[in-house]
Amino acid sequence: MPFYHKLGKIPQKRHTQFKQPDGSLYHEELFSTIGFDSILSNAYHINPPAKIDSIEKVIVDASPVEWDAGLRPYHFKTKGLKFELDFITGRKPVLFNSDVIMSVCRPESQMDYFYRNATCDELIFVHEGEGMLESNFGFLDFRKGDYIVIPRSITFRLVHKTAPRLLVFESAGPIKTPKRYRNEFGQLLEHSPYCERDIRAPERLFTSSDKGDFIVKVKKENKIYSVHYDFHPFDVIGYDGFYFPWIFNIDDFMPITGKIHMPPPIHQTFEAPGFVVCSFVSRLLDYHPLAVPVPYSHSNVDSDEVLYYADGNFFSRKGIDYASISLHPGGLTHGPHPGTTEAALGKLETVETAVMMDTFKPLKLTNFARELNDENYYLSWKD
Ligand SMILES: [Fe+2]
Repeated sequence: MPFYHKLGKIPQKRHTQFKQPDGSLYHEELFSTIGFDSILSNAYHINPPAKIDSIEKVIVDASPVEWDAGLRPYHFKTKGLKFELDFITGRKPVLFNSDVIMSVCRPESQMDYFYRNATCDELIFVHEGEGMLESNFGFLDFRKGDYIVIPRSITFRLVHKTAPRLLVFESAGPIKTPKRYRNEFGQLLEHSPYCERDIRAPERLFTSSDKGDFIVKVKKENKIYSVHYDFHPFDVIGYDGFYFPWIFNIDDFMPITGKIHMPPPIHQTFEAPGFVVCSFVSRLLDYHPLAVPVPYSHSNVDSDEVLYYADGNFFSRKGIDYASISLHPGGLTHGPHPGTTEAALGKLETVETAVMMDTFKPLKLTNFARELNDENYYLSWKD
């Protein structure tokens, strides 16, 4: 995150003696990114953080399995997704490439272990439900509409109070606020649709000195390893820096509107190497007297475009349902369904919530996408 955050107790100077009540030293851990050249945080542990007790021999392969279905527009229906497993094991990858894996998830049970994604930053959109992100960098409540950003290698557990429905992005590169919204110091500018006031950082540090057998499942290159420690992984007494989990709620995105139709970049919320994530929220429509308030047909020449429909009326698309996902790949023009442009003339506002992902490398479909597939969607522009 491009701002400084501090929780708990830390020494006045980095890399100096910092003593526990019994006179022993706290154990400093540096979280550094891009080879000590980008954002970092320093955390102070009760226990030596490198002290592994054991690693299980059984390794779970979580690689997405490709369904090679060919070029066409797709519509996947996830409304009827079953509650299953937990926040990690219940993830069902739908689309992927080497930059991002997009999954849906309706966890049923709570996690009885901790988790660390060592390869990807995680961006979790909470479509339904509420609960708590518990991490070694502090605790944060989450609710409907939240984007939870968990940078790689943070140890965490998600706990739900009410049943969640989630859209999960695992990004091979760091997830950031768009560069054009920031000044040279990283501060979000006046034209940004959200600012630091909208970002929730951990407010409460939970520090445990418990001993026992604690499992951290570590995902590395799509393989999940169960690592055992003989101390609680949340043994941090304090930290400071720019590296920590954070949350931004989609309702805090202030839409940019125009006299005539504005292109999708005005909805951009996050950037990451190889893809962007945009938020479509309720807003007033274009106010030119002759404005056409739905998008024109367009060819996204060098990207694949994915929309997740969370709420509201999607009046440019037929057959789209709650929690539907559409995929419009580069190479095929896409646009409003017949009659929807004319029907939208004169409309003053739209009530909707949708999350869009545009990738610059082609997306692959998974075997699970096949189960969700609306087979005739690609023919739905016929009169
Ligand atoms: Fe589009």
